[in-house]
Amino acid sequence: MSTAFAETELLDAYTVADRSEPHLRANMIASIDGAATHQGLSGGLNGPADKQVFDVLRRLADVVLVGAGTLRAEGYGGLRLGQADVTWRREHGLADHPVLAVVSSRLALEPSSPLFTQAPRRPLLITHEQSPSQQRALLQEVADVLVCGREAVDPVRLREELVARGMPQILCEGGPHLLGTLAGADVLDELCLTVSPLIEGGEAIRITRDAPVAHLPVRLAGVLRAEDMLFLRYLR
Ligand SMILES: NC(=O)c1ccc[n+]([C@@H]2O[C@H](COP(=O)([O-])OP(=O)(O)OC[C@H]3O[C@@H](n4cnc5c(N)ncnc54)[C@H](OP(=O)(O)O)[C@@H]3O)[C@@H](O)[C@H]2O)c1
Repeated sequence: MSTAFAETELLDAYTVADRSEPHLRANMIASIDGAATHQGLSGGLNGPADKQVFDVLRRLADVVLVGAGTLRAEGYGGLRLGQADVTWRREHGLADHPVLAVVSSRLALEPSSPLFTQAPRRPLLITHEQSPSQQRALLQEVADVLVCGREAVDPVRLREELVARGMPQILCEGGPHLLGTLAGADVLDELCLTVSPLIEGGEAIRITRDAPVAHLPVRLAGVLRAEDMLFLRYLR
């Protein structure tokens, strides 16, 4: 099957110079008029080239950070990479799979979900002191719980905790609420944005929502193209 990008092209574009240096990268997709969803999911915006980038970014990550809203909407299962990614990671001295880290306040997650039961590595659950303690105790059976903050997840502590646990290469796959929180605290190092060649219209959300005004200047560090789809890499 032909692919949009050669693997080496993507690895060259997205590999950081020093893996030990903490790096928080987010990867998002939007239509040209800024919609982050089509009919409530990001799936209506993407395509095979975007999937290639998505997979390479996972391959390069120590931990994949995702908001509970995205898990629920997109139906995440256990985070398991394909064999080619596992082989590459072994050759580069990395664990077979990144850890999945879920950010949640309400902790409305089922311990019996495939997210936990089919995870090749024990997931992390990132929450705060005010989250429901009973639910937290239940989920502690299937995940390591990180309490970062009193009434909300503190993005600075979140980042520090992941780095302290030996996971400096952090990939955030959204969603918009989580990305808004990270941007609001200015803890993002990089935003990878796929621009999908669509005018979506309607009331779709943006890639940040419920967020304080951040107004963070960024620098364009890379551009890839697959037909009409653009892959932009911005560094803070
Ligand atoms: N275009 C894209 O690239 C892209 C990427 C990902 C998702 N999406 C789309 O975005 C939509 C979901 O949006 P969303 O904003 O609800 O996604 P989200 O940020 O993944 O989820 C929001 C939920 O995650 C938890 N959460 C996020 N940030 C938190 C924080 N700082 N502290 C504590 N909890 C936090 C909370 O969970 P609890 O409710 O459990 O407390 C919150 O209700 C879906 O339609 C999905 O398809 C698009």
